[in-house]
Amino acid sequence: MINIIGLGYIGLPTALMLAAHGHEVVGTDYNQQLVETLKEGRTTFKEDGLEELFREAVAKGIRFTTEYQNTEMYIISVPTPYDRFSKKVDPSFVISAVKTVLDHCPDGATLIIESTISPGTIDKSVRPVIAVSGKQVNLVHAPERIIPGNMVYELLHNNRTIGADDKAIGERVKGIYASFCQGEIVVTDIRTAEMTKVVENTFRAVNIAFANELARICRHDNMDVYEIIRICNMHPRVNILQPGPGVGGHCISVDPWFLVGDYPSLAKVIDESMKTNDGQPAYVLNRIHDIMHERGLKDTARVGLYGLTYKENVDDVRESPTLQLLECQERHLAAPLKVYDPFVTQNIVSNQYHNLKDFLNDVDMVVIMVKHEEIKQNWDLLKGKIILDCHNICPLPGVYHI
Ligand SMILES: NC(=O)c1ccc[n+]([C@@H]2O[C@H](COP(=O)([O-])OP(=O)(O)OC[C@H]3O[C@@H](n4cnc5c(N)ncnc54)[C@H](O)[C@@H]3O)[C@@H](O)[C@H]2O)c1
Repeated sequence: MINIIGLGYIGLPTALMLAAHGHEVVGTDYNQQLVETLKEGRTTFKEDGLEELFREAVAKGIRFTTEYQNTEMYIISVPTPYDRFSKKVDPSFVISAVKTVLDHCPDGATLIIESTISPGTIDKSVRPVIAVSGKQVNLVHAPERIIPGNMVYELLHNNRTIGADDKAIGERVKGIYASFCQGEIVVTDIRTAEMTKVVENTFRAVNIAFANELARICRHDNMDVYEIIRICNMHPRVNILQPGPGVGGHCISVDPWFLVGDYPSLAKVIDESMKTNDGQPAYVLNRIHDIMHERGLKDTARVGLYGLTYKENVDDVRESPTLQLLECQERHLAAPLKVYDPFVTQNIVSNQYHNLKDFLNDVDMVVIMVKHEEIKQNWDLLKGKIILDCHNICPLPGVYHI
């Protein structure tokens, strides 16, 4: 039996996938309400194919509980935020989960840590806890690469990395993931697995920062960044990403900081890139201000942000550029911005709308922060508005860009 610890965005689909592929699975989360929801037969977030996978896993006997199990194998997928001051990974959730697993597991059990951790975290933070417990367990690090919005597909098709102390244990764990994963699965050591996951997200962050910096340079001297990127990308070895309003989510906006925190004198490009991306919501706020000035709008004008999530067509708002922008705006004590997102049904910020037409009726200027499919189907409703399009997707004339 496999006991999955932490049933969030990563743990839940992983648990369901394993159960659907014939493994005996118990999903454990200390959030009682979340466990109750799952027990009642409801998923806790939206994702293409998740409902079907959930039903299949339930039919095959998956169980949900707040209790840790006594078993041979655990997959730990609890959060790993970073400490905003030191920039280092905060391993406290992982440590606490490992401690509780050690209280329940038999000698010889295998602990697979799926949470993203900085290189050396297992040596520095997990091994000492195991040593104190006196338990003999096998350690594995199997970082996850799936992207919200396409999680079920990517669980099935992505390549994976398994880091293990013992090659034979690594191969055994590879066999378990291979029961559903059609991608290539590489077995390596734990430190390499820790580093590769963080490096992958850092590569993305640095490339996004480059595109954002180009947008700022081009804006400064009135050049069209999109046309420039389009032409540059016709070069056979150039592939520049698109600029945007900032970076959110729990990976690209977080993991690269681990390297800055651990190697402050070495990770210079990474440090500057993260600052560039983190500064992008404030840059958008300045653009809003400049456009309002250009169009003769008063500070009290009605400005609306379209999109609250950190990426399109998902309901995850963690670290989202819109939330960062709102925080920044509050520091300036400006007139409150109105906000709408079709995927965010709870009220999480003030001046939030739950209907696109009501939102648009109440604003003179719309800032497209997230390129949800909904807005692409409703350009007609935006006619006559002043539009700042942070993603270069709006086909209407006279649209402003970042
Ligand atoms: N969300 C993503 O897109 C993504 C992608 C790749 C990797 N990751 C990594 O996966 C890990 C998990 O991320 P997530 O997005 O699933 O987080 P999440 O916050 O959605 O879920 C974590 C769950 O763990 C539970 N939990 C925390 N401590 C626990 C404990 N001691 N015992 C039992 N339950 C506990 C929480 O209640 C929560 O439900 C993180 O390290 C993250 O960086 C996330």
